[in-house]
Amino acid sequence: MKRRSFLAMGGATGVAVAMSQIPAARAAVTEAAQSAVSSASSGSSATLRGLAEKIGLRVGTAVIPTDLNTPAYTAILEEQFSVVTPGNAMKWGSVEPTQGVFDWSDADTLVNFAEAHGQLVRGHTLLWHNQLPTWLTTGVANGTISKSQLTSLLEQHIFTEVGRYKGRIWQWDVANEFFTDANPSQINPNDFWVSSLGAGIIPQAFKWAHEADPHALLFYNDYNIAGEDGTNAKSDAVYAWLQQMLDQGVPINGVGNQGHLDTQYGFSGNQMTADLQRYGSLGLKVAITEADVRTFVNNATDQVPTDNLAVFAQPYEFSQMMLAALAVPEVISFTVWGFVDADSWVPGFFTGEGYATLYDVNAQPKLAFYNLLEDLQLAAFGAPRRVPSGGGF
Ligand code: XIL
Repeated sequence: MKRRSFLAMGGATGVAVAMSQIPAARAAVTEAAQSAVSSASSGSSATLRGLAEKIGLRVGTAVIPTDLNTPAYTAILEEQFSVVTPGNAMKWGSVEPTQGVFDWSDADTLVNFAEAHGQLVRGHTLLWHNQLPTWLTTGVANGTISKSQLTSLLEQHIFTEVGRYKGRIWQWDVANEFFTDANPSQINPNDFWVSSLGAGIIPQAFKWAHEADPHALLFYNDYNIAGEDGTNAKSDAVYAWLQQMLDQGVPINGVGNQGHLDTQYGFSGNQMTADLQRYGSLGLKVAITEADVRTFVNNATDQVPTDNLAVFAQPYEFSQMMLAALAVPEVISFTVWGFVDADSWVPGFFTGEGYATLYDVNAQPKLAFYNLLEDLQLAAFGAPRRVPSGGGF
């Protein structure tokens, strides 16, 4: 069973239908606001990217190569998003599968696509424990790659990749997922890089990346660092570390909160706003880098939520993240981790879960999409002024 009934609003006329569902009270607008809203909802700016542009925010998505081979996906990608993050194509394991043998084909394709469609690129990611080439991890494990060789291999990797795309990457996720999920949280001593080379390799990576492309914005990126873990322990640890790095003059320009949420856990939008604000107060740019909201589903193909309330929690949590982003002027981009449920990483990584993106398995927009559109519409144009009635105020 496909779950199209709930989303009868989908399809080419989706935006118009969704707008008509806005309660009548909201339609009581002054002439000026009415024309602003209607030009937004009927014109080309009635898109996530178009509305966000009006307030200087960019809305992005992770992209995998198959997205570009599916015309229905490509149409959404061009229309709705102004930033592209290669989902896997820039990871070390993808670009250098055999030592010294590079494969830039997917990364090049995505960067070229973005540039052809007025989109910026978030580079992802240079220093991470996952998706490393096997030759590298095997060599470290069996001792054929020494510490000093590992250091120079990393240096070479960063200069090669950042250098290749110099001037074409807006934000680079230089370092990814270094903090533990414990309370208190700390840099994970068992992380591949930290256990091999010490925690000093993280600031070193930022210095190399800065040298390789002085104009790219360099980000530290992690999950659960803005109110998602209940205790805020991870956010506290990352905040303290960022402050220390900045005091030491490390060229870090921003912090990315991935934003992978799950409706089965608690989540506080207020806490997220406060945490994003706190990063911003360090003088850093802030980004939501991998937003998705997963929930339990019937199966990985249809991805129909099994809990009726999840159908409301999913768009609610997306919207709360967007509202947090909108409240903090240092937030420069809001990126989702893929936009179609059929292509999401969630069913493959979280048993029994899915329904995590803005579009369903048939590439029809879901309530979460319309909620983000409404949030951005309000942000771009403000709420319409009340119309005075009779002698009232
Ligand atoms: C995921 C990709 O989406 C999957 O296709 C891949 O198999 C594993 O990695 N945090 C990150 C991303 O920083 O790079 C991860 O992407 C999702 C979690």
